[in-house]
Amino acid sequence: MPKKLFFNWKMNPTSSFQATNLFEEVIKSSKSLSVHVVVCPPFVYLPLVCEMSKKTNIKIGSQDISTQDSGSLTSEISGPMLVDLGCQYSIIGHSETREINHLTNQDVNKKIRHCLQSKLTPIFCIGYQEDKTTTDINHTELSEQIQQGLQDIRLEDDQIIYLAYEPVWAIGTGKTADNSIIVEVTKFILQELKMLGLNSKTKILYGGSVDDQSVVELMKIEEIDGFLIGGASLKPEKFSRIIGIVSSN
Ligand code: PGA
Repeated sequence: MPKKLFFNWKMNPTSSFQATNLFEEVIKSSKSLSVHVVVCPPFVYLPLVCEMSKKTNIKIGSQDISTQDSGSLTSEISGPMLVDLGCQYSIIGHSETREINHLTNQDVNKKIRHCLQSKLTPIFCIGYQEDKTTTDINHTELSEQIQQGLQDIRLEDDQIIYLAYEPVWAIGTGKTADNSIIVEVTKFILQELKMLGLNSKTKILYGGSVDDQSVVELMKIEEIDGFLIGGASLKPEKFSRIIGIVSSN
């Protein structure tokens, strides 16, 4: 199966003009290639990119989601709103969002439930703040994020979850985890998912400084289903090479 690409634009770009240009580059780079690309722009550009994506194979996701359909939740964006625009995915529990909004694993769990109830596919991110070194794997913390984040989650037959393992030290730093660490963590994640009965319905992604150079080595990891990409998803020369590499494997 070709690996899937999830582009997390984070809080970029800063105008509709730039967002249009950037998305046009994604369209150009992926045109007529067999590649699964999901673009997750800031909320304000979702109407724009959802409209632009209509005649393409590119899918759209949000970078966060609320916990309820509607109500007195100033600043929040709900699942039905995202579905109405044409979104199919939502990033939940990204380490930056966890930190900025002081999210607990229980908050993440509520968002995943709401996401699934809204018929959106969650991109559930795990990765802990304390993992300061490239060899540090805090199994307890990862286990808590998985067990509490996915507690009592039941999937319908047509639903899956993407789980993105993103070591915090690797995000935006130019350092990627070694393949051996990613394989070890992936096996651990699958064991944890098995306890929840979700192992066969969860696809594993890796994120953290994936670019047109590092992707070559990371592509060798059979255990993962794709990549969550931040910085390189803003640079057409980088993401077009990534798309080329992934689609030809
Ligand atoms: P990065 O970001 O590719 O810039 O490291 C990945 C992410 O935070 O999802």
